[in-house]
Amino acid sequence: MRRFGLLQYPEKESLSKKIFNQYFKLSSINAKYDDIVIEPRKFDTKATEHLESYDGLNVTVPFKEDIIKFISPVEDAREINAVNCIYQNKGYNTDWKGFYNSLLDTDLKLPILLVGAGGASKAIIYGLYKLGIKHLILVNRTIEKAFKLKDFFTTKIDITVESFENLKEVMKSSKTFINATSIGMFGESFNFSSEELSNLSLIYDIVYNSTALQKQALKNGIKLIDGKTFWYYQAVENLKIWGVYDEVKFYETFVNSKFN
Ligand code: ATR
Repeated sequence: MRRFGLLQYPEKESLSKKIFNQYFKLSSINAKYDDIVIEPRKFDTKATEHLESYDGLNVTVPFKEDIIKFISPVEDAREINAVNCIYQNKGYNTDWKGFYNSLLDTDLKLPILLVGAGGASKAIIYGLYKLGIKHLILVNRTIEKAFKLKDFFTTKIDITVESFENLKEVMKSSKTFINATSIGMFGESFNFSSEELSNLSLIYDIVYNSTALQKQALKNGIKLIDGKTFWYYQAVENLKIWGVYDEVKFYETFVNSKFN
């Protein structure tokens, strides 16, 4: 049996475990996917063990950077300085690639407003850069982290940092709104009025569950790309890297999955 898993802390039942295991079953692939919880203080020892015993791994918060010293990152993962997928000791970043692929058929309207400055935003900014976007507006509750990302990508993409207090104002003149924060995951929400959203032609919300923002997008006729779609596109890239991708079966598993 082939073994795959997700390195994480703290424990959180992942969409990956749920859907990949359903997919392996449906496609008669002899494999299993585990959620692997590692206490950060034990990371070095445990990471080495798991790298040896698993055929392929995903990596999520808070280990996407820490894992790099144990493997060889491919060029884009090195450029982003974050790895979320591993195979045969090579580290990949499928977050940016999934984000990029999810937008290949979309005509992105400018200006683009991105909220959030964590690990997901880093991959998203790289994805936007690869899509040929030259400028974006970045808002984060902790503004210093937004400035850090601006500096990190300074040679690739021009970033205007705005304060969280200005979010609604900036939103009114933006065409594309990307939420890369966890707002909506635990019940809190942005509280935008329909009027504040009215200029938008696309809302991309990376949160997996159906958020107030996503419902508002649908109600106001604004094109929506949700977190499940984001997950799907990066998941495809993982399966391709691990050599276990069946396009039809994976799509079938995904659309038939019960998420919540
Ligand atoms: P991920 O890897 O998913 O991006 P992360 O690195 O923990 O996770 O980043 C979470 C993002 O959500 C951050 O931008 C965080 O803002 P801060 O940098 O100010 O912490 C943002 N976030 C989470 N909860 C938030 C809230 N209630 N209001 C505003 N921003 C929030």
